[in-house]
Amino acid sequence: MIVFYFSGTGNSRFIAERFSRAAGAACLSVEEAADFDALIAQEDTVGFCYPVYGSCVPRPMREFVLTHGRALANKRIVILSTQLVFSGDGAHALCAFLPGGKSDVVYAEHFNMPNNIANFSLFAVKNGRQNRTRLVKATRKAERAADEVLRGRIRRRGFHWLSILIGKSQSMLWPLVEKRAANDVRISADCTRCGLCARICPMQNLTEGENGIEQGGKCAVCYRCVNACPERAITTLIHRKPKKQYLGISEETVRLSR
Ligand SMILES: Cc1cc2nc3c(=O)[nH]c(=O)nc-3n(C[C@H](O)[C@H](O)[C@H](O)COP(=O)(O)O)c2cc1C
Repeated sequence: MIVFYFSGTGNSRFIAERFSRAAGAACLSVEEAADFDALIAQEDTVGFCYPVYGSCVPRPMREFVLTHGRALANKRIVILSTQLVFSGDGAHALCAFLPGGKSDVVYAEHFNMPNNIANFSLFAVKNGRQNRTRLVKATRKAERAADEVLRGRIRRRGFHWLSILIGKSQSMLWPLVEKRAANDVRISADCTRCGLCARICPMQNLTEGENGIEQGGKCAVCYRCVNACPERAITTLIHRKPKKQYLGISEETVRLSR
């Protein structure tokens, strides 16, 4: 088995790695440079792990699945989606892009993870030990998922018609939100042009131009730059300066969650 993940701020990477370690699977970011078709060809089961955005699949993961659709045909598919609180059918949402639709999916699970929307006033940003309980639970769930996949147990979280209906309440609007946000990264006067955002952007959307950081209309709203900017000078989607940034999952937090 091989697991591919997209992770804006580290949560999905954490789950992909926990699951893969427990399942004895290979684990690779979709941002890496690799011969993905050749890697997929060697396996009978392929896993995907990604964060849910408005009950939808992030663009980097959608594009990855569509690009490698031919190689993915007739593979057994495992879907692991991470979320803050709720997505309805966040894992099921990937089926729209899979060559075999939902029929190839043998396992799907949702994982509640720390908040990475640093400037969303409804939810607090927590870091380090504050996330311990969430990560302990998520780790147990990832290990249980690995065990169940290896034993051939079928679980398809988010595939019930009610979950799909609930998911639709968010996912119907999300494409519009995503389209508008794609070209709406805002950089405040606090920017020191350190270039970090350009180096870490998974979409290569941000570049260092003569007049500062420029955008190319490809923002996938992953929040990586919003959380990493040393000056808290970047916003996307919600244009409020984050009071506190999400620092992702540190080695120390990983140790605590074992
Ligand atoms: C733009 C955006 C939209 C999100 N939408 C949802 C959502 O609809 N439901 C939810 O529970 N969490 C939502 N989240 C939270 C993330 O899915 C969650 O924090 C995820 O674990 C982040 O994973 P990552 O660190 O791998 O990027 C959203 C996050 C972002 C940045």
